[in-house]
Order: sequence, then C-alpha cells, then structure tokens
Amino acid sequence: MSKIWTKKPMSAFENDMKSSQLKRVLGKWSLTAIGIGAIIGGGIFVLTGTGAYYHAGPALAISFIIAGIACIFAALCYSEFASILPVEGSAYAYAYGTVGEIFAWIIGWGLILEYAMGSMTVAVSWSGYFNKLLKMFGIHLPDYLTSDPASYAGEGFAMNLPAFLIVLFVIGILIKGTKEAAKTNNLIVIMKVSAVLFVIIAGVFFINTANWDPFIPAPAMVKEGENMKEAYGVQGIISGAAAIFFAYIGFDAVSTQAGEAINPKKDVPFAIIVSLLVCTVLYILVSLVLTGMMHYSDFDPQGKYPDAIKAPVAYAFEIAGQGWAGYIITIAATVGLVSVLMVMIMGQSRIFLGMSKDGLIPKLFSDVHPVRKTPAKSLMLLGIVIATIAALTPISKLADMTSFGTLFAFTMVCVAVWILRKKEPQLPRTFKVPALPVIATLGICINVYLIWNLSHEAKYLSLGWLVLGVLIYFTYSLKNSKLHKVGYGETFKAEQEPLDKPDLDL
Ligand code: ALA
Repeated sequence: MSKIWTKKPMSAFENDMKSSQLKRVLGKWSLTAIGIGAIIGGGIFVLTGTGAYYHAGPALAISFIIAGIACIFAALCYSEFASILPVEGSAYAYAYGTVGEIFAWIIGWGLILEYAMGSMTVAVSWSGYFNKLLKMFGIHLPDYLTSDPASYAGEGFAMNLPAFLIVLFVIGILIKGTKEAAKTNNLIVIMKVSAVLFVIIAGVFFINTANWDPFIPAPAMVKEGENMKEAYGVQGIISGAAAIFFAYIGFDAVSTQAGEAINPKKDVPFAIIVSLLVCTVLYILVSLVLTGMMHYSDFDPQGKYPDAIKAPVAYAFEIAGQGWAGYIITIAATVGLVSVLMVMIMGQSRIFLGMSKDGLIPKLFSDVHPVRKTPAKSLMLLGIVIATIAALTPISKLADMTSFGTLFAFTMVCVAVWILRKKEPQLPRTFKVPALPVIATLGICINVYLIWNLSHEAKYLSLGWLVLGVLIYFTYSLKNSKLHKVGYGETFKAEQEPLDKPDLDL
C-alpha cells in the first residue's frame, strides 16, 4: 500500500525533459499570449451581469479584485513549481514529485474536469455566440442543429453541430503543430484584447457616475428563479468573486506548455503572472465601465430589460444607443472563445502526455507524431470525445465542475509547493514565492472557500468523478505505473530522440 505514496524523483523529471520529443518553440510572449488566450473568453462578456445583479452591484469590481487575488496566490505557487519542474504535466507533475503518486493521480484526474470538461463547456458557449452572430447577419440555423437532444424542444434527431465542428477545427490546428497553433492564438489574443479595450474606452463616454452610488449597496434579497437570495453588502462581494471566478480560469494552462517553452524556467513563471495581471486589470476596468453604464438593478431578468443579464456588455451598449457595438462584442467573443478552446484542449493533451509517460494511462497518449511533434493520436481521441459530448449533452449546466477542477488543482499546488520548499529547500528555483507560508495559506483558504460556494450539484458530481478516478487508479494505473514496474533508471533511458534545438521565438 505504501507504493501509492511513492514520489517521482527529481532526476526522473530531468530525464523527462531531456528526452522530450516535443519541439521547444514557445517564447516568453507566446506563452503570455497562451495565458491571455485561455483567460479571456465568454466569462467577462456574460458573467458580469450575474455578478452585478445577484451579488455585488457596482462593487463587482471589488469581486474581480478578490478573485484576481485568489488566482494570484495560486499563480505564484504555480510559478515557483514551473521554475523547478518545467514539464508538461502541470499540477499533476508537481504533486508526483512532492506528495506521491496517488495524490498526483487524483490531481491529474481532477484536471480533466478543468481542461476536458472546460473545453466541452466552451464549445457549447461558442456555438451560442456563433448562432447569435449568424442571426445578426440574418442566417438562422434550425433548432435541431444547434441544440443537444435533451434540450431540444421538438421531436427526432438533434445535435449541437457548431459545437461539434469547432472542436474538430481546433483539433486540426493543434495537430498541425504547436508553432502554428501559437501563431493563431497570438492573432486571436490581439483581437480580443482590442475588443476588451474597445469596451473600456468607448464605454467610458457613457458612464453615469450616479449608477455607482452607493458603490456597495446595502444587503438586500433578490429573486433568483423561484428562490430569494441575499445579495450585495460585503457577503455579496465575496459570493460575486466565486460567481465570476470562471472568467479567470486559464492562466494555469501556461504551465502545461512548459515542455514546449524555449526557456521554461524563466518564461513560464513570467507568462503565468503577466497574463493574469493583464486580465485582472482589464476585468476590473470592464466591470467598472459596465456598472457605470447601466444601473445594476437593470440587469434584473424580471425587470425592464429581461435579456440584459444574458449578454450584459453588448446590452449596455445597445441601451446607450450604440447597437453596432453589440456586433463587435459578439464577433470578439465568438473568435475569442476559439483560442480558449484551443489552449484548453492543448493543455489536456499535455497533461495526458505527462501521465502516459509515467504509465498511469495508456501509451497512446504519449505517442508524438514524428513530423509534427505533437501528440496527434491523443488529440484525435480527445477531439472525438469532446466534440461528441459537447454536441449531445446539456453540458453547459455543468460549467461549475470546471471551476471545481481548477480550484482543486490550485489548492493542491499551494500545498505541494510548500511541501517541496520544506523538503527540498536546496533545489534551484529561478522564481520563489515571497512569504510562502502566508501566500500558500491564503491561497488554500480562498480556493477552498470558493469550492464551498459552488453549486451542490457540481460539488457532488465532481466528488463522484474523483471517486471514479480512485477506482481506475487501483484497477489500472497502480499496476502499470512505470515507477513501480521498471524504476526510473530503466524507464527514462534516453531512448527517444534528443531535444530539438529552439526555433525562432514567436
Ligand atoms: N476564462 C475562460 C472564459 O471566461 C474560461 O471563457
């Protein structure tokens, strides 16, 4: 039984890095763009209305600051790890080197919720935006091609075809090559950051400062569906932070790309922190502009603008008489979500790659295409599964499970970085978390608190998922783990091709 707590030695990670078949093509700014590419998506354009009306009012900006701080604690811990272990498995690998195999497995399994289930959720949201965009141009797809069978009101066959196709499209880019994917991502990031800046700069002209008064509304009850819930005040600011947390998910995806970074020990920590800081500033400004343009009470779905909460940013411009801005925002969200999808699927394939190299999942997931240098088979399989589930399941209802997987990994990374600092203080670290005991404790507390605030449905389903993971571990992974089967000396003989020389920075 003690086998399950075995740790992967640091020397084995070094061997992993030396024998990696992935191409080191990602420079500092491409990595930062990968972070921003994964963070800015539908969240900021959609959740701001919910955050303002059901939680914080104009103080939504403070909710964004709190969620940003919660993320920065985790980001700092991720960064220290990435500076020691710049390998593709992200939190899974960090836990394997510090706490032990079973713990690493559970984290890796939990990360599937963040990356694979996150991809399904994003594909479904993308389909929603895409349909909206088509409608703006007078094209109406039939309902049976845009709904999953459970949500379809009519009879007979139904599937979410756009969600299915976008996943396959993204998989195609990812298989083609990491450099190509990064270039596409860079372009999308430029576009969506411009759209967010546009919202901020154009929106400033329509701010009515009276809408910010009072900035923190007194606690009050609001109707949500059939129930009444307490909103506003200090508690509203905190619950608002949990509600908008989804908008921040993604910065940790940078750590899954460490195996393809030219200078991972320095550039991965840089990219994680910079992408998060850039997005935090943008989010705070967007939320200030939005609650300045529209009074938070106007997002009431039973009020005078019943649809405003579904697309708050576009709606605020429409109410200000600038309907054309709605086009820009819808285009930005549609294109922007493609890069979220791209980074999430890429992240999932790299985590599987790490787990497969260790023997915990089948070898297929670590086969690297000889020419493209991408895990093509794993990507194809992932693509089929993600596209099918996104097309046929009402997955969007389970978006909170993505937050669960992410917060779970954040918490574990805060724990693991602290353990490693205590146990192996001599390891060279190009980035060190300042005041680690304080930062890690705060990170753990905030992330656990946010998990606590997720919906019960998501919490139970996610726990069920983790239990399933434990069963698989004992029936498959434990028996196939390379650590137990052959030991690391044998496993990581440099039998694979040597590392590629760095290409041009992107
Ligand atoms: N942060 C990403 C989004 O908001 C997941 O879409």
